[in-house]
Amino acid sequence: KEIVVSGIRPTGYLHLGNYFGAIRNYIRMQEEFNCYFFVADWHSLTTHPNPKDLQANVMRVLAENIASGLDPEKVTLYAQSHVPEIAELYLLMNMLAYKGELERVPTFKDKVRLQPENVNAGLLTYPVLMSVDILIQRAVKVPVGKDQGQHLEMARNFAQRFNERYGNLFPEPEAFNYGDNLVRILSLDGKGGKMSKSENEMATIYLSDSDEQIRQKLRKAKTDSGGVPGEPMPESVANLIEIMKLVSTPDTVQFYVDAFNAGSIRYGDMKTQLGEDMVKFISPIREKAAALQADPTYLRKIMKEGAEKARVNAAQTLQQARNLIGLNYY
Ligand code: TYM
Repeated sequence: KEIVVSGIRPTGYLHLGNYFGAIRNYIRMQEEFNCYFFVADWHSLTTHPNPKDLQANVMRVLAENIASGLDPEKVTLYAQSHVPEIAELYLLMNMLAYKGELERVPTFKDKVRLQPENVNAGLLTYPVLMSVDILIQRAVKVPVGKDQGQHLEMARNFAQRFNERYGNLFPEPEAFNYGDNLVRILSLDGKGGKMSKSENEMATIYLSDSDEQIRQKLRKAKTDSGGVPGEPMPESVANLIEIMKLVSTPDTVQFYVDAFNAGSIRYGDMKTQLGEDMVKFISPIREKAAALQADPTYLRKIMKEGAEKARVNAAQTLQQARNLIGLNYY
């Protein structure tokens, strides 16, 4: 079976972007592939989270993944920091990563712009750590949203660079989404930015939102005033249609697409319908995640067993990397 790796940072509540960019793929992939899914707790430290919050955030991400349909019997679920082999390979890979290329990464440049007061070395080498998460399990497919596409390209570069210098060890991983193009769910505020854990809460639908919050947020979602026949669909409306495709029946979606094209669309009706379909979709996930979080013993057992499995595979790769580099003195 092909190996799959993907991670989610525990920096906030999971939202529709995380679900439709990543988790939805995880659920299908667990039937076909050998999957390693983890909570990227080391990655979240670039933001200096309050130590008191970290554990609850990690547990919640784990619970929301399982509640969404991941089966711990089928996939390996773990916390990144429980696999210390990743840290050693990260050290080794940093020797092949150049300051210039890291500074040119768009996600890094964004951080420099948005948080000039905290441009730490961990942020600069973030793509190296992310590459190692993937390469250490020798993964070939990585289910992620569109915002991670560039990082995957870097993972391929690092794999290639290592292989050329020291000998063939790493397969080159590809970003993956069922349905070809990587997904990018936009914030509901109509400004064109991606939905994200830390942006405008009213424009972000979380898997933990109450039914009323879901309805209210969708009612307030930005849409343009009326469709004009022949005009292309505004981005904000296209985003709602994309979201609708994920939770509503094909007939419902078709109805609103046709109404848009005919210039007779009623956005209020569309948003009410989407609200109801979204409530049906999210409420069981929310309830299940809450029940799981009430039982940390179970979650701890899952993550402990997951880490043990992830470490076995990681240790093999790491040992080969050490050998190829020449770090084998006896
Ligand atoms: P993170 O935690 O920001 O997001 C987790 C996953 O959700 C996807 N995603 C989206 N997809 C579509 N539309 C959106 N608006 C949206 N917002 C988030 C992300 O693409 C991601 O798949 N660097 C990663 C975590 C990571 C990782 C890895 C992923 C660390 N190591 C190794 C894969 C493999 C991140 O910050 O994702």
